[in-house]
Amino acid sequence: MTTTTNATDITDETLAPRGRDKIEWAERAMPVLAAVRERFARERPLAGVRVAACLHVTAETAALVRTLAAGGAEVRLCASNPLSTQDDVAAALAVHDGVGVLARAGEDRATYFAHLAAALGHRPQLAMDDGADLATLVHTSHAALGDALVGGTEETTTGVTRLRAMAREGVLRYPVIAVNDAVTKHMFDNRYGTGQSTIDGILRATNRLLAGACFVVCGYGWCGRGLAARAAGMGARVLVTEVDPLRALEATMDGYQVLPIARAAALGDVFVTVAGNRGVIGGPEFAAMKDGAVVANAGHFDVELDLAALADLAPQRRRIRPSLDEYRQPDGRRIYLLAEGRLVNLAAAEGHPAAVMDLSFADQALAAEYVLASARELAADVHALPRAIDEDVARLKLRALGVEIDVLSADQREYLRAWTTGT
Ligand code: ADE
Repeated sequence: MTTTTNATDITDETLAPRGRDKIEWAERAMPVLAAVRERFARERPLAGVRVAACLHVTAETAALVRTLAAGGAEVRLCASNPLSTQDDVAAALAVHDGVGVLARAGEDRATYFAHLAAALGHRPQLAMDDGADLATLVHTSHAALGDALVGGTEETTTGVTRLRAMAREGVLRYPVIAVNDAVTKHMFDNRYGTGQSTIDGILRATNRLLAGACFVVCGYGWCGRGLAARAAGMGARVLVTEVDPLRALEATMDGYQVLPIARAAALGDVFVTVAGNRGVIGGPEFAAMKDGAVVANAGHFDVELDLAALADLAPQRRRIRPSLDEYRQPDGRRIYLLAEGRLVNLAAAEGHPAAVMDLSFADQALAAEYVLASARELAADVHALPRAIDEDVARLKLRALGVEIDVLSADQREYLRAWTTGT
C-alpha cells in the first residue's frame, strides 16, 4: 500500500483492549506527565491546535498523545520507525481515544511515508518529530504546509542534527524546540533509557549471557555512556570506539578500553552502534568478526551498519528467532543481525521504560505549549527548551519520587553574587 488518505490506518482494531491495559500500566509510572495533563485539561493551552506527531507508537507515546488531547489538541499520529509500532496501542488510541493513528508494525517504506503524508494531510499547526522525517517532508514534497506551521518539536539527537543543518542552510520554515537538548531529556532518556532498553532488546532477541562477553559500544554520547554502564553492570567486558577525543578520554577514565573499530571488530561478541552516523560498522569490520558475533544498532537510523556490505559478504540469510537474522559467509562464519539493523530497543523490545519517558514526554508537552505561545518571538530556527521548564520537570519528578532537596540561604545567594570574598 502506498497511499493513505484516511485519518486512521492500523493493523487490528480488536487489539484495543490489550492496548488500553498497556497504556494504563505505562501511565502509572508517568506522574510528571499526569500533572501536566491535569493542568492542560483545566487550561486547554492547545485548544483547537492541529498536531501531526511522528513518534514511536508505544504505550508511553499514547500517554503523551492523551495529554496533548487533554490540552485541546487534535492529534494525528504516525510512526517514526517502521518496526517500533505496538499495534495494540495504535488500536487503543484509535478506538478509545478517537485519535487518527497511521501506523502498522512492520510497514514497508512506501507505507511508512504514505502514513507521514497522511499525518500532514491534517494541515498541522504543530509538527512533533522524532528523527525529523516529518520536517524533512514538509521542506521537500509538502512545502505549501510551511506557512501554516506555527512550530515544531524534536525528540532525538539525530533529528536535532538534521534540523540544525536545515537552519544552517536557511531553509527551516518554522521554529523548532530541541527537546532532546533539555537536561531532563538527554541525561535520563538517552542515558538510562537507552542503556536499559537496548540491553532488553538484545536479551529478548538472543537470550545470550552477557556476563563475560566482550561488548563493543560504538559511540560514547549519552546513549553510549548509558549502554556501556549497563553492559558492564551485567558483567560484560566493555570496549568503546569513538571519533571524538574528549569522549574517548572520558570513556577511558570511566574504565573502558577505547580502540578503533578496525581492532575491536575481531574481539567483540556483541556490537552495538549508538554513534548517530552512517557506516560505523562496514564491510571490513564485518569480515573481521568472530563466528557468532551479534550485531545491533540503537542509533536512530539503520544507516549505522552498512547492511549492503553485510549482505554482499554473507549472502546466505535466514531468520532464526524473532528479530534475529543469521548471515552466513562462504567460509561458514556467521554474523547475527538484530532487528534488521533498526533501533533494537524499540524493534526487539518495548523502548524505554515509562518512568524515563515521563520526563521526555513532559518536556514534549511543555515544549508544544511553549512554542505555540512564543511563536511570534521565535525565529525559524532550532531553539532550546527554556531552563525554567527543564527545572520544573525535574522538580515534579523529584516530588513524585519523594526526594527532597535543600534551598540556598540568603547568605549563600549573596555569596554567589559577590566577587570580593576569596582566599
Ligand atoms: N523512544 C525510546 N523509547 C521510547 C518509548 N518507550 N516510547 C516512545 N519513544 C521512545
